[in-house]
Amino acid sequence: MRFARRTQGGGDAELNAILAGPPPGVLSAMGGFPDPQTFPTTVLDDIVEKLLRDEPGVALQYTPVEGIPSVREYLADRQEAMQGRRPGEGELMVTSGGMECIGLACHALLDPGDVVAVEAPTYLGALMAFAGFEAGVAGIEMDEDGLRVDALADKLEAGLEPRFLYVIPEFQNPTGRTLALERRHALVELCRKHGVLIFEDVAYRELAYDGGALPSLWSLAPDIVVQAGTFSKIFAPGVRLGWAAGPAEVLAELADRKQFTDQCAGGLGQRLVEEYGRAGHFERQIPASRELYASRWRATDRALRAHLPDGCSWSEPAGGFFTWLTLPDHVDTRELREEATAAGVAYVPGRPFYPGDGGANELRFSFSRLDEDEIATAVERLGSVIPA
Ligand SMILES: Cc1ncc(COP(=O)(O)O)c(C=O)c1O
Repeated sequence: MRFARRTQGGGDAELNAILAGPPPGVLSAMGGFPDPQTFPTTVLDDIVEKLLRDEPGVALQYTPVEGIPSVREYLADRQEAMQGRRPGEGELMVTSGGMECIGLACHALLDPGDVVAVEAPTYLGALMAFAGFEAGVAGIEMDEDGLRVDALADKLEAGLEPRFLYVIPEFQNPTGRTLALERRHALVELCRKHGVLIFEDVAYRELAYDGGALPSLWSLAPDIVVQAGTFSKIFAPGVRLGWAAGPAEVLAELADRKQFTDQCAGGLGQRLVEEYGRAGHFERQIPASRELYASRWRATDRALRAHLPDGCSWSEPAGGFFTWLTLPDHVDTRELREEATAAGVAYVPGRPFYPGDGGANELRFSFSRLDEDEIATAVERLGSVIPA
């Protein structure tokens, strides 16, 4: 069989491994999976019954490309309540999750050979999407306060001309780090000056352990920021629902591109989220989810302190699912993986999260789907295989 040229790079084995889950007996700290105990099954039972009874012609039908009008209205209300800014006419659409929104941006903005600037390290799914559209990727250094805006400024001054900057400002995947407030202001100023569009991925934004939130980049600069949001982490990934908010000119093109992918997000999921949200359930569930992940992070931190040898360090997330571990220089986390799996713990090594070199002695540890006892066991197992 003759396949398209773009298939020659292949998929990423890491992503397949994450989605497939670990072998039996192995505790998985691999995926960015929400804990199923946060899935609102009982409430959804009632909502689904009502939707199927009262409006099958909407919930089970095709929908407009940009989303069902009442759902868009709800999402606009929600943006206003959560981020202090209401999208104007044509500035918001429904997507089939965050990943689809990244794909739509690629469709709309990237020709082969174009360059996307990203935090290094960054979300593996995004890196794969950019590679799939034959784009180059420029990694920008991070530190504990997120993307180093000074490093981006240097690269832009030196002639880098990215089609856009992809950034995850809160509880970043994979590092757990958050972009500091003053950097947010500096970043939008810099990108305005250089005419760089920002693609802001807010997948974990609402999962701050203390319930707080810094201003989103979109709320600071709606003229140059496209925001991709998802209900996967605060509702359920199985529903595959998200949103894009941004300049009307860009949104019109994203909606146009959606005609070439799935044409519309599923109506049932759209109405589920709207009904669930309008009834106030997010206000009940999200605080409970935050508390759950906060206590898991505390358990992870305790276990890391107890079981990791000297010379190891890790990021301290203020929300979300991940901490980023740095092991001693001589340890290669890809090589260590086999031993770790044999000891009964699975993680994702650092390298695939970098667009270029980097991450050899780093790894992502996801604590979102392990209970506290499992976290203690998983970290103890990890510690037992790290050479001192
Ligand atoms: C940063 C980031 N963006 C987007 C996604 C994809 O989300 P969705 O399930 O909405 O496609 C993920 C999922 O892990 C993620 O971590």
